[in-house]
Amino acid sequence: MASSSSNYIIEFKIDVIKTLKIVGISTGVLTAIGLGAYYIHRRSQSSKRVILRDEVRNILRPFQLTEEQLRRVMANLNTEMTNALKVDNSVENDLAMFPTYVHHGPSGKESGEYLVVDLGGSNFRVSHVFIEGRNRMRLNNKIFLIPHSLLLGEGEKLFDYIAECLQRFIDDNKLSVLKTADYKFDLAFTFSFPCQQKSLREATLVSWTKGFSCTSVVGNDVVLMLQQAIDRRKNLPIQVVALVNDTVGTLMACSSNYRDCKAGVILGTGMNACYFEALDNIPKWKGARDNQTKQVIINTEWGALGKNGCLDFIRTDIDRELDESSLTPHQQVFEKMISALYLGEIVRLIIVDLVQRSILFPGRMQKSPSIRPDYNIFLILRGSFYAKHVADIENDTTDDLSTTATILTSIGIHDPSYDDCFIIREVCKTVSLRAAKLAAAAIAVLINRLNMSSVTVAVDGTLFRHHEQFKQNLSRTLGRLVLRAHRLVLSEDGSSKGSALVAAVDRRLKTSPIVYEKNLPS
Ligand code: GLC
Repeated sequence: MASSSSNYIIEFKIDVIKTLKIVGISTGVLTAIGLGAYYIHRRSQSSKRVILRDEVRNILRPFQLTEEQLRRVMANLNTEMTNALKVDNSVENDLAMFPTYVHHGPSGKESGEYLVVDLGGSNFRVSHVFIEGRNRMRLNNKIFLIPHSLLLGEGEKLFDYIAECLQRFIDDNKLSVLKTADYKFDLAFTFSFPCQQKSLREATLVSWTKGFSCTSVVGNDVVLMLQQAIDRRKNLPIQVVALVNDTVGTLMACSSNYRDCKAGVILGTGMNACYFEALDNIPKWKGARDNQTKQVIINTEWGALGKNGCLDFIRTDIDRELDESSLTPHQQVFEKMISALYLGEIVRLIIVDLVQRSILFPGRMQKSPSIRPDYNIFLILRGSFYAKHVADIENDTTDDLSTTATILTSIGIHDPSYDDCFIIREVCKTVSLRAAKLAAAAIAVLINRLNMSSVTVAVDGTLFRHHEQFKQNLSRTLGRLVLRAHRLVLSEDGSSKGSALVAAVDRRLKTSPIVYEKNLPS
């Protein structure tokens, strides 16, 4: 790492007393002196503190949310949820609150063989799931990469590609062997985008999120589009039986083990939640209302919160800049403050700001005659800093911040100084903490709405799985915001297993009488 060239004051605090003790206790043995010297070195390294300039503090301050602000976010989210349950109004309501037509969790009596296609990020997964009763499941899956051109191209091509991958999966795993000539696989389609459903297998895409923008899909029934692509292949014996949002899959998979699991949350590329709501609390519900259907899972699509300004009191200039330059300006405002797709970009924009103020890499970016082209790439390339970088830098506990330096070097910022690394780690911590606090505020609203004596929330997504600090901050903040007993549980393979369960519950209900669940939300 290059030595610091900036004006930051570096404090070396050496714990003299501890050091003397070490030296004193050892009776003149050379080894001990050696150890003492090593200890002093370690202490001096780990107690280096860069005093942040006021300018840095001022830039980071708007990202530091108070509990009062979080409670206002909670109140606003709760109001928007209630409003959107009254009537569908995509202009006035921030949220969609889509009924999913999933009325029951698994009872343990489900069984059978299912295929699941899981589309929601930059790759998609095909799974073959066996449900063997009493919540035992076997799963075999394969991840297929989606060529970038397909994400932005003609929608029909995307669905044809999915059908092609399904064919490959069935052939490679010889799934059709021993099946009768008229056998058809039931397929659950995990499609993690906002869809207005008319039934379990009719779902109109309302808008793309998370960087997808295939043409001719918005406004169309995606179940039909997938079925048509499957049928175009002539020899693919599959019927699509259910459309499932990833949050719903996450909830279903977890609720087979936890009876009080009534909410599912994704904290990953996107961020969203679903929960069981009593039909009596959904004035806009037009579907069946009888003994068997007293509740339905609502896909909140809460990433859209803020569309009409209710988050403006905490949005920063950086949030606005990120939003304006995104594929979907003014949409998914809340998601853009939290999810993994955007966390790295928020950090990158702050870094760019600090560079432009000559606080970071002073004298080495614009002024130097030997400007490195890769520095400039980092400065202008949207999305070049990932959430994984944020997590790794935030977790950097090395004395010399060498992890941070290595990451910065890997993205083209060569020889960052200790000060540069220190400031960037502060930026990562601040942005990640804000995201965790906001996610906690949202989950707190869910827990309060469920109004149960204790509730389990199923969670999946990279931020929860792999970003340890984020997860800790989330749990800590949630503990402060809600008094009710709750636990967050990782839902393993939720969006595949849970979707298969949705199809399985549907099959069971068609053939056998309902088994009523306890712990309904009141
Ligand atoms: C986006 C999608 C939503 C999905 C979430 C997590 O917010 O709109 O449907 O559940 O990402 O993948």
